[in-house]
Amino acid sequence: MFMAGRVHFGPGVSSKAGELVKASGARSVLIVTDETMERIGLAERMAGSVRAAGLEVSVFTGVEPEPSVETTDSAAAIARDRKVQAVIGLGGGSSMDVAKAVSILVTNDGSAARYQGLGLVKNPGVFKLMIPTTAGTGSEVTFTAVLIRKSDGVKGGINSDYLYPDMSLLDPELTVTMPPGITASTGMDALAHALEAYTSLQASPFSDMFAEEALWRIGKWIRVAAMNGRNIEARGGMMLAALYGGVALANAGVTACHALAYPLGGMFGVPHGNANALLIPHVARWNAQASPERFAEAASLLGYPREEGEPDHVAAIFCSEALGDMVDDLGLPARLQDLGVGIGEEHLEEMAGKAMGVSRPMENNPRVMTRDDCIKIYREAMM
Ligand SMILES: [Fe+2]
Repeated sequence: MFMAGRVHFGPGVSSKAGELVKASGARSVLIVTDETMERIGLAERMAGSVRAAGLEVSVFTGVEPEPSVETTDSAAAIARDRKVQAVIGLGGGSSMDVAKAVSILVTNDGSAARYQGLGLVKNPGVFKLMIPTTAGTGSEVTFTAVLIRKSDGVKGGINSDYLYPDMSLLDPELTVTMPPGITASTGMDALAHALEAYTSLQASPFSDMFAEEALWRIGKWIRVAAMNGRNIEARGGMMLAALYGGVALANAGVTACHALAYPLGGMFGVPHGNANALLIPHVARWNAQASPERFAEAASLLGYPREEGEPDHVAAIFCSEALGDMVDDLGLPARLQDLGVGIGEEHLEEMAGKAMGVSRPMENNPRVMTRDDCIKIYREAMM
């Protein structure tokens, strides 16, 4: 089983951050976060919690939406300088990914770029505490930190068992002010993790359990959370769904949707959740008949129960329909042109090449996908 060492869940749980970090034995702490958290006062609130526990605290607020190697190295320089024994990642997946990377850069030399790949980190990092303020990425329980190299625009993950967080605090109250668009986008990322893990060739009874728990919660709560953000039950449901989707992903991997989504982020700066939301109905349609029983069950979990006696290959089609309806209801971009970043036919070759290069998710896909198939799916996503 792969996930965070300990997870605390519940409204208000984030107020315990200071005492929990202190219990890890740390005396000096770096909080890694972004300007939004600084502006809404959450960065200072968390720093206050750490200070109140009698610890030294520094705050790095420079994390950008698609975090870079360079930003990570800047945060790591502060962490090394202050000799911190703990790093807190406060925010969305970007802040948590940078925090996880900074944790291992305290104990491993050089730039983050050196560790992009699988299993390249030599030494365990310092204590990592994750406090998500979105519900989607699952970064609070995964072993990956995805960073863009500004030099060539390529996104690459640092993938190492040393990146699993030691602890995560899931506090639904921190997500109630998240705007509808980000709630929808990050929620669809969680959905992609769960559905892709569920239909991955690496799926196991263990990952299935978490994927199913994520899928029904998202089917039930994503629209409510996006449209009625103060509903704490919906926020809690989505936060758990993101956690469970993250555990499913950590254990079974993702598939072609994430591979196809990466170039949209790397080449055009499209937010990760929006890219997945846009592509997943198309990828689900493409994959449905390769694993009809799975897609039929997923449709049912998402709230599209099958007719009595309906065979798998028919019911499976409704998974794609369920996803398309969700994207429409949430008001997310449904076609590549709607993203407004100028993606045209002339880009599809390069995008397909980059998607094929995301090899592990492609290898997990239930249906073999070629470069030409990638182009076909991108083209369908334009219509
Ligand atoms: Fe994702």
